[in-house]
Amino acid sequence: MEDPTVILPPPVPVPAPGPAPGPSLIVRPDILRRFDFAALFGRPAPVELELGAGDGSFLLGSAAAHPESDFLGIERLLGRLRKIDRKARQSGLTNLRALRLEANYVLRWMIPAASIHALHVYFPDPWPKRRHWKRRLINTGFTTLAATVLAPGGTVFVRTDDPGYFAQMTEVFDAHPGFARSVEPDALLARKTDFEAEFNSRGIPTCHAAWRRQ
Ligand SMILES: C[S@@+](CC[C@H](N)C(=O)[O-])C[C@H]1O[C@@H](n2cnc3c(N)ncnc32)[C@H](O)[C@@H]1O
Repeated sequence: MEDPTVILPPPVPVPAPGPAPGPSLIVRPDILRRFDFAALFGRPAPVELELGAGDGSFLLGSAAAHPESDFLGIERLLGRLRKIDRKARQSGLTNLRALRLEANYVLRWMIPAASIHALHVYFPDPWPKRRHWKRRLINTGFTTLAATVLAPGGTVFVRTDDPGYFAQMTEVFDAHPGFARSVEPDALLARKTDFEAEFNSRGIPTCHAAWRRQ
């Protein structure tokens, strides 16, 4: 029998079923050309890029908090990309696009030089075994690509739960003459990614840092 002294929490609201409104925000680019961001977003505005956007909590939160900027999320898993698209459309976001391509390829071939205001790389796959380190996204070659796509004064932000990978990130960005250590705004640090929220809930410490393009 039900205990009458137990107070139940209010029911969690469930989003309305049915298709997301508006056209898809998933980009199908002409891979023979670099992006024209003003054409892609329909206006000239600062562009922020997230590599490996996952389920998109950071990307969606950022786009909602900064309507003055445009956000492009790169994610190779289609299910995650579709989730970002659906949630963005349900939230009525017009300053977000999602792209299914490999992150290094996008940086090297599709982003115009000096066009990015902020580059976010949060919890990239850590590849903890030494023989797999060559698969890591962030290495010396990555810093060169980041230096090319970031506009002067633009910033690269990184977060990870892997101290060894964090040491590698720190080493390669500190060694690049085009970058200087920067401070992350509190509001940015407060915006958690999906993986970060999960790590935080399990008490797993995480590392973060930022470098500004000189
Ligand atoms: C560990 S998850 C972190 C997701 C998200 N950043 C977060 O913190 O919640 C890494 C994500 O990056 C994506 N990913 C890994 N390597 C990638 C690559 N080279 N290009 C595009 N996406 C990649 C994976 O599919 C995965 O969704």
